[in-house]
Amino acid sequence: MAIGIDKIGFATSQYVLNLEELAQARGQKIEKYKTGLMLDALSITPITEDIVTMAASAAQDILTDEDKTSIDMVIVATESGIDQSKAASVYVHHLLGIQPFARSLEMKEACYAGTAGLHYAKLHVEKNPDSKVLVIASDIAKYGIASAGESTQGAGAVAMLVTSNPRIATFSDDNVAQTRDIYDFWRPIYSTIPFVDGIYSTKQYLDSLETTWAEYQKRHQSNLADFAAFCFHLPYPKLALKGLKKIMPKDLDEQVKNRLTDNFDISILYSRKVGNIYTGSLYLGLLSLLENSQTLKANDNICLFSYGSGAVSEIFSLQLVDGFRKMLRNNRMADLEKRQALTIGEYEKLFYEEADLTEEGNAKFDTYNTGGFALEHIQNHQRIYMRKQHD
Ligand code: HMG
Repeated sequence: MAIGIDKIGFATSQYVLNLEELAQARGQKIEKYKTGLMLDALSITPITEDIVTMAASAAQDILTDEDKTSIDMVIVATESGIDQSKAASVYVHHLLGIQPFARSLEMKEACYAGTAGLHYAKLHVEKNPDSKVLVIASDIAKYGIASAGESTQGAGAVAMLVTSNPRIATFSDDNVAQTRDIYDFWRPIYSTIPFVDGIYSTKQYLDSLETTWAEYQKRHQSNLADFAAFCFHLPYPKLALKGLKKIMPKDLDEQVKNRLTDNFDISILYSRKVGNIYTGSLYLGLLSLLENSQTLKANDNICLFSYGSGAVSEIFSLQLVDGFRKMLRNNRMADLEKRQALTIGEYEKLFYEEADLTEEGNAKFDTYNTGGFALEHIQNHQRIYMRKQHD
């Protein structure tokens, strides 16, 4: 039975920090960001937009009422969770109005967990062919003012509906994963921002890619010529480009090399303007590729490299389904252009605002622009969300 991604949606914040602003404020040359990291802008969230509201917006964009009666599992993968106990997917299940007899849970392993979510969804649909599973990767990447990672922040959610007989792409059942216990990037529960060993993390990313790819090739007698495109986890696109160059052998056929390089450039279009969205960033790359490539066709294979610090990596592939373009949008760039640009002062105030809780655990917020959902207020330590009227 073919199982895979039937629909894919995306949501981000309504505010953006153009990196010219950041370069000027931090005394850096803009080329460092545009060429050195291959980033142009970062999505910035206000306090009323969090991983729950973005996850709900990304899913709302793709789900029909019929989907909401068929979904029997909701998985939210995140490393910027809002509660140590209650899963973000429980809020999302409610906000979307999904039928009650569903399982809802949250998954975590840095930027990797969305991939684990897809795998669990696939196993579930294998046993229950009429089921639909909603997998959402939602995160806010926040490193701190004037930190080394500040230019690689971002925010967004990618929602994927996993079904049998999918209309976008099927899973090829070829996953190869690797785990290594390292401290390259981590966030203890008492800290709002991560600890990062930046250069070490880039080395671990590249080494995990090389070694997992070698194992994948060995297990599946496969090589780069088998793929139309290779999508990567995108903490910032330049690192993924280094990865692509690393796994391309010197004697690689020129046509294959050009195809992979051209499709790589297409896969980073959205991330250049959104930044790192942690769990969703690999899938934002996939979405960018699918929505913007003019050359991809049915039966093309796409290889994906998932990496989460700590670290877990995985390589697997998807095969495109006939008619996949009908399930995608072609005007997403226009949405990104509509975000409100922030000055450096506005960014610092907005992104780092924290709930000012009363002794009873209540907090009110100013009104900010959000997608279809917003965090309205906090009451007795409970987060109260609302669906916006115009949606
Ligand atoms: P940095 O200090 O901002 O930058 O650190 P740099 O000095 O290393 O420069 C960056 C690049 O810009 C270099 O290119 C420079 O040469 C170039 P490279 O040598 O690497 O090719 N550059 C210029 N280029 C053109 N014109 C100029 C110019 N100036 C400099 N004028 C660092 C970069 C990545 C360390 C930092 O941004 C950071 O710590 N980021 C956060 C950690 C990160 O993203 N790590 C990636 C791997 S780990 C991962 O992917 C997991 C993660 O997503 C989290 C998770 O799993 O949960 C992060």
